[in-house]
Amino acid sequence: MDKLVIEGGVPLRGEVDVSGAKNAVLPILAATILADGPCTLEGVPDLRDIDTMLRILRELGLDAERGPGGTVVTEVRDPTQCRAPYELVKTMRASICVLGPLLGRRHRAEVSFPGGCVIGPRPIDLHMAGLEALGAELRLEGGYILADGHRMSGREVYLGGAYGPTVTGTANVLMAAVLTPGTTVIEYAACEPEVTDLARFLCAMGARIEGIGSPHLVVTGVDRLRGTRWRVIADRIEAGTFMTAAAITHGDVTIRGADLAQMTAVVAALRRMGVEVDRCPEGVRVRSLDRIHPTDIVTMPYPGFPTDLQAQFMATLCIADGNSFVTEKIYPERFIHVAELQRMRARIRKEGPTAIVEGVDFLSGAPVMASDLRASAALVVAGLAAHGTTTVDRVYHIDRGYERIEEKLEGLGARIRRVSDRVAVPADAEA
Ligand code: EPZ
Repeated sequence: MDKLVIEGGVPLRGEVDVSGAKNAVLPILAATILADGPCTLEGVPDLRDIDTMLRILRELGLDAERGPGGTVVTEVRDPTQCRAPYELVKTMRASICVLGPLLGRRHRAEVSFPGGCVIGPRPIDLHMAGLEALGAELRLEGGYILADGHRMSGREVYLGGAYGPTVTGTANVLMAAVLTPGTTVIEYAACEPEVTDLARFLCAMGARIEGIGSPHLVVTGVDRLRGTRWRVIADRIEAGTFMTAAAITHGDVTIRGADLAQMTAVVAALRRMGVEVDRCPEGVRVRSLDRIHPTDIVTMPYPGFPTDLQAQFMATLCIADGNSFVTEKIYPERFIHVAELQRMRARIRKEGPTAIVEGVDFLSGAPVMASDLRASAALVVAGLAAHGTTTVDRVYHIDRGYERIEEKLEGLGARIRRVSDRVAVPADAEA
């Protein structure tokens, strides 16, 4: 298993490229199950989660291979395969995204029911209710969702839950609906840019979807979808992570390819923290000259502040000049990073879904680890500013969602290196 060793205290400077968005690519790859003919995706990051999805697609009878320069080509070879096995699904919850396209195109699916998750309960009841509203028959047997979509037809589907809409649930219902006869109306659809990118990809394949980008989607079923070529959007969470890395180190970083239009809440938070954020021809320039100001952050569905940047912002606020409140409204238990940040001298008190962060003068490097991708990224961000050496263990979590993170940070001047202790990553290392 690899570790990242960071000598903190270097202000990051220079330019860095953002990769394609993991959470856009995963459902888009699943959507290629729907296509008659080959699909070529561009800007696909080299990540463990993407490899997992490619393996699932192969299990489902697709040729799915990486090509040069971040391309992936998929094509259905054997449309009779309908089983997404436990061995793969247990390593990545986003595997559930194959349920909708399998039902829409093959009218049958056997998908392992996703298990527990370190960031708290992650039910799929809304996915199932949404597909059932379209007429799919679902039952749970032997740990698998066994689904029959032969009697599906366009209906009204409501996707709101206790914590707002569901991102991958919206993707699943959308992917099931595009080939389903009649008109499907999805109310309270997730509006995340990754869902929008999926909807646009489906339209490029020939789907008919109105209301893209809004919580009200109207889908008119079509008979067939063709293969197409698609460049995925930039990863706003990776971009936001680099923004916090620039902010916490009092750096000056240009993030090439970042799309500010998708990051309004994030930019507003940075500006409240006294960080300068400017659009530039390449993307966005982030400068942090003064001590970080405290601010309050509440995670919410898009266009609110994203839960996937909560941990990285909390790390940054640890050295603010005062107290901040960080409230998690999507995953109220997503605070695995708190105890690790405390090991680095952070002063954080948790009260229910809120963390009260009392700014300290400096963080102190320490050996730390986390079992959630974004929590691990937050520890790297903290390590970049901490006094002394920080060792972040279990880097395989970061490798699930950040492409060559140490190379990109090194390019900005960070003193960071990857070391291997020759212990293999567990085969079932989880999502
Ligand atoms: C997506 O997960 C992302 N994953 C997550 O990113 C992200 O944190 C999350 O959306 C929220 O933005 C992918 O896109 C692959 P949800 P998803 O369904 O779709 C509740 C990362 O670090 N809910 O929108 O699984 C749920 O418990 C990952 O890259 C139900 O109650 O999230 C949560 O409170 C982690 N019933 C809220 O809704 C359901 O059936 C939003 O979850 C589904 C969800």
